[in-house]
Amino acid sequence: MLEKYKQASVQSKKFWTRALKLFSGGINHNIRTFGLDRCQAYPPFMERGEGSHLWDVDGNEYIDYWMTHFSMILGHNHPTIRKALDNQLAKGVHLGALNEHQVVFGELLQEAIPELKRMRFCSTGSEATGYAVRLCRLFTGKPLVAKVFGGWHGGNDALGYYLRYPFDDKPYYNGVSFEFNDRDSIDALMNKYGTKLAAVIVEPVIGAAGGIPPEPDFLSYLRVETAKRDILLIFDEIITGFRLCYGAAGTAVFNVEPDLITLGKIAASGMPLGVYGGREDVMALAAPGAPKGRWVGGGTFSSHPLSMVAGIATLNALRAGKEKYQSLNNIGERFCHQINEILPQTQAIAVGMGSIIFIHCLSRPIEEGPLTVTKLGDAFDKARTDLFQSLLVEEGVFGYHGLGGLSFAHSQNDLEVTLKAIETVLKTLK
Ligand SMILES: Cc1ncc(COP(=O)(O)O)c(C=O)c1O
Repeated sequence: MLEKYKQASVQSKKFWTRALKLFSGGINHNIRTFGLDRCQAYPPFMERGEGSHLWDVDGNEYIDYWMTHFSMILGHNHPTIRKALDNQLAKGVHLGALNEHQVVFGELLQEAIPELKRMRFCSTGSEATGYAVRLCRLFTGKPLVAKVFGGWHGGNDALGYYLRYPFDDKPYYNGVSFEFNDRDSIDALMNKYGTKLAAVIVEPVIGAAGGIPPEPDFLSYLRVETAKRDILLIFDEIITGFRLCYGAAGTAVFNVEPDLITLGKIAASGMPLGVYGGREDVMALAAPGAPKGRWVGGGTFSSHPLSMVAGIATLNALRAGKEKYQSLNNIGERFCHQINEILPQTQAIAVGMGSIIFIHCLSRPIEEGPLTVTKLGDAFDKARTDLFQSLLVEEGVFGYHGLGGLSFAHSQNDLEVTLKAIETVLKTLK
């Protein structure tokens, strides 16, 4: 299995052998084996990226759909971002004080997402969601936070629970869960925990748990039910922000306004960034010495000048081409449809929205009705998905969650080559 890949990746194999002696599991992010280790192989070590393509240390070229965990909507090594970074580097890396770029970047974010009445920058999405939740607990004086089953909001203690199917509904620390796309599950959550909930956090389109778009009335129902009980609603837009439109998807695409928003990834084109912000009264508690406040924030690297200038260059480039989002979303949805046409219907499915495309191999058909994380989990065949993805890597298509996301740099040729690669992989999988 994967003999062609193994023969072509001698250097990666050497680095992998060394990495296993250094890092727990050989990796520094749990998913970066891309399932290849579970197929008696090892992940490629990447050396260089350009546009929609990556090259590994053995010189193999890949069409990339992982795009740095969905961050590179402008493509790898974008000249404008590189120039901004080069210019800033010449002045020193990080001076540990205020820099003008954070103000310019904050203003650009606020112009794109007016709901960000006040915000704070940190270095990762995991910090941003952790701080957002802390602020909600301070503001409401209530202990519990709810997230959807399978929802990934980073590796912090506040939200690192119910990540893997099968799920139960026992409280974890001060966290409880409910089902995405299931209004009954919102009702059950509210009946059981409504008076104790400080916040509900959800991605407008579920990322790591399946690439699942919301049913038309799900987010608005959640908004109504949370507002009724003074429960704060956080939209985690760390993947969806600046992916489906120039701004935040919650308000701009789904017409539902949360109390707080978290951002990262695309907003700084692959430089470390977390953003949390929203309502002025909630964010006021993050100010030093605020009555009822507690320590929120910190971070030696928060508002790091390199992240700030990358963010400014990214937003300027995306704003200048914001009318192109519609076409990227259309291309993504057509591509998803084309993939579904070649996948054997009961054995695999492509799911997503706009430029987000996940491919799931299935052990049985998904139960009918609105797609939920649990329904997907019931039918999901993890071992086969790992193999499908590993075989795609062997064919020169690099992704995770079965595929990943498109960028503005992907060409029609990339998509055609990918469809052919999927056909080849399916023949091997039979
Ligand atoms: C929706 C969502 N929230 C939060 C995070 C955590 O962000 P980071 O990896 O920058 O800590 C991620 C990362 O994958 C994410 O997808």
